[in-house]
Amino acid sequence: MTIKDPVVEDVVATISRSATEIRQGLIGRRGTIDEENPSGETQAEADVWADGLLADRIAELDGVGQYASEERTDVIDCGDDPAESDAYAIAVDPLDGSSNLKSNNTMGTIFGVYDAALPARGETLIAAGYVLYGPITTMVIATDETVAEYELSGGERAIVDSDVTLPGEPVVYGFGGRVPDWTDDFREYAREIEHELKLRYGGALIGDVNQVLTYGGTFGYPALESRPVGKLRLQFEGNPIGYVVERAGGRSSNGERSLLAVEPEDLHDRTPVHVGNAALIDRLEKALE
Ligand code: AHG
Ligand code: MN
Ligand code: MN
Ligand code: MN
Repeated sequence: MTIKDPVVEDVVATISRSATEIRQGLIGRRGTIDEENPSGETQAEADVWADGLLADRIAELDGVGQYASEERTDVIDCGDDPAESDAYAIAVDPLDGSSNLKSNNTMGTIFGVYDAALPARGETLIAAGYVLYGPITTMVIATDETVAEYELSGGERAIVDSDVTLPGEPVVYGFGGRVPDWTDDFREYAREIEHELKLRYGGALIGDVNQVLTYGGTFGYPALESRPVGKLRLQFEGNPIGYVVERAGGRSSNGERSLLAVEPEDLHDRTPVHVGNAALIDRLEKALE
């Protein structure tokens, strides 16, 4: 699958070429530093290092007007303003699941290419995807046409599936947050799902979503009693993942509507995130009405 838009191809190639270096660079950077990100979370050394590496490389690409990440407060203006030109804005979660560094479990890098200035609605995405640092480093890339999966090695990407689609029959589920902190309505929905599907929850959005894309099912990090807006970030996690799963034939939701339709107020807005088979997401929205 060739990516028609040369700027999107450059962004994707930059991230896929950086993936091997990021994976290698996790070694020796697994500790936390005495800094917080804009979401108020303690940063891992690898969070900041991966962000710096990607910011330097992506911000200098022709056609990129803005770079923003979960790890930095402000947008980097690095070219024409995407609001007034055909430049794109790139939003990145440089290291998703960095709490898994300590336990050596899966992590990822998430990106979204917005055809608008940030913060922007997910509907303005023209491409999105992620790198999964699993036993094999893979990359899933969604554009308006299709969703494709690649294996990455030595800076090259080799196609393994040129038409990734969500399997019709759901098999796995994963829900974040603690059960006592779920709302009553969500807990009731979760109880039904627990009797129907197999639990797969690894503490990194990308690893859990990749299981849903592979086997069918649903992932959710719901609104909690203690944090009604949930934990995950709309610009850097919810929108890109929502775009990938919707392009693969599934649905996304913040509990009420597609994540891509949510109007952001702030660059670091959090949102409840639900993705997976359409019938399950329809059921969820009904349960939360
Ligand atoms: P990040 O490491 O980018 O901050 O993301 C962590 C997120 C997401 O990857 C995952 O789904 C969720 O945090 C896990 O949260 P819990 O540790 O509360 O399960
Ligand atoms: Mn984080
Ligand atoms: Mn993340
Ligand atoms: Mn992160």
